[in-house]
Amino acid sequence: MKWKILIFVPVACLALWAFQAGAEMTPGTGIVHSKHDMNMVSNPDTQNRVCAFCHTPHHALDDMQADYLPLWSHELTTLTYGHYETVTFDGRGDLSVDRLTGPSRLCMSCHDGAVAVDQHYGIPGSDVRPGDWWGDIGVGAAGDLTNDHPIGFNYTYVAGEDLEIKPASTPVSNPKIDTIEDLLYDDDGDGTATVMTCSSCHDVHNTDANDDYFLINYQMDSIFCITCHDK
Ligand code: HEC
Ligand code: HEC
Ligand code: HEC
Ligand code: HEC
Repeated sequence: MKWKILIFVPVACLALWAFQAGAEMTPGTGIVHSKHDMNMVSNPDTQNRVCAFCHTPHHALDDMQADYLPLWSHELTTLTYGHYETVTFDGRGDLSVDRLTGPSRLCMSCHDGAVAVDQHYGIPGSDVRPGDWWGDIGVGAAGDLTNDHPIGFNYTYVAGEDLEIKPASTPVSNPKIDTIEDLLYDDDGDGTATVMTCSSCHDVHNTDANDDYFLINYQMDSIFCITCHDK
């Protein structure tokens, strides 16, 4: 009898945990009804379009400020940013990489605490999220990314310097991601992705997410952090 209880209790806990997580957003089930579905979390689009808050088939933004604009329909951030620096951070001082290269500048067009998250298609928005505190989403509010995990540096270079950073060829325990390189961005278009961005950790469309916060790996036992850190 005892073994049944031993199995039942953890399974019940797991089911409860899954239900609680699913009550808000089920990881990996796509963007519709996720926290990136602005119709759910902000002022809805007149036709309840989901992609429209970020993409448009026509009249897309063409802005010299950004190197990567996948048919972008959302006003871009205009702030100048301070970035994370410590003496042990091996990507510091590498000025060859634009720290907001690739997807990161796109994230900042809502997470800069200045551009309204419901702005799209040239229509003004009103929902600005300026808070940079736990539970708030303005991680780059007032142009301050100094208290955030570093982005916009050459991961492959750093992995060569710091032997406690796993090589980019290391497999990732996520069925949709092969290696760490798949999480990096090819900023110079040479066919090899090397740069770490916001999308190295988060999956904006909730298709590859394994856990809450659109994370590509599990927070339990910090499996997520150990994806890259050999700690
Ligand atoms: C909240 C903003 C947001 C919404 C909403 C959104 N996307 Fe994206 N999309 C992005 C960002 C940011 C990128 C840049 C690359 C990345 O981080 O994956 C991107 C990249 C893409 C790309 C090119 C790269 C790739 O992954 O193939 C396609 C295609 C795409 N999105 C399609 C869609 C479609 C279709 C929808 C609606 C079902 C959608 N997106 C909704 C933010 C969004
Ligand atoms: C996609 C890979 C990746 C993931 C996932 C990741 N990191 Fe990092 N992290 C890095 C790299 C690369 C550096 C730069 C390391 C260096 O400079 O030697 C870094 C830097 C850091 C630093 C700053 C080190 C310094 O010298 O100032 C800390 C602390 C840190 N990460 C903690 C974490 C924690 C905690 C998690 C999980 C919540 C995490 N990281 C997830 C790749 C990652
Ligand atoms: C169109 C605006 C928009 C864009 C672009 C956007 N986000 Fe968000 N994001 C939001 C909003 C709004 C929320 C908060 C939803 C809510 O109210 O719970 C959010 C929430 C999040 C969360 C927290 C999810 C949770 O479980 O609490 C993460 C992580 C996140 N975004 C990461 C990103 C990353 C990374 C990018 C770029 C690849 C990005 N976002 C692009 C609007 C955006
Ligand atoms: C090294 C991995 C990593 C990188 C890079 C990263 N994040 Fe996160 N982010 C996380 C984790 C992990 C969480 C979940 C909260 C926690 O565990 O503290 C999170 C949470 C968030 C949240 C929710 C904050 C809250 O308190 O509700 C937002 C918004 C967010 N990230 C946006 C971004 C944006 C935008 C970028 C790029 C500028 C980015 N993240 C880069 C790991 C990362």
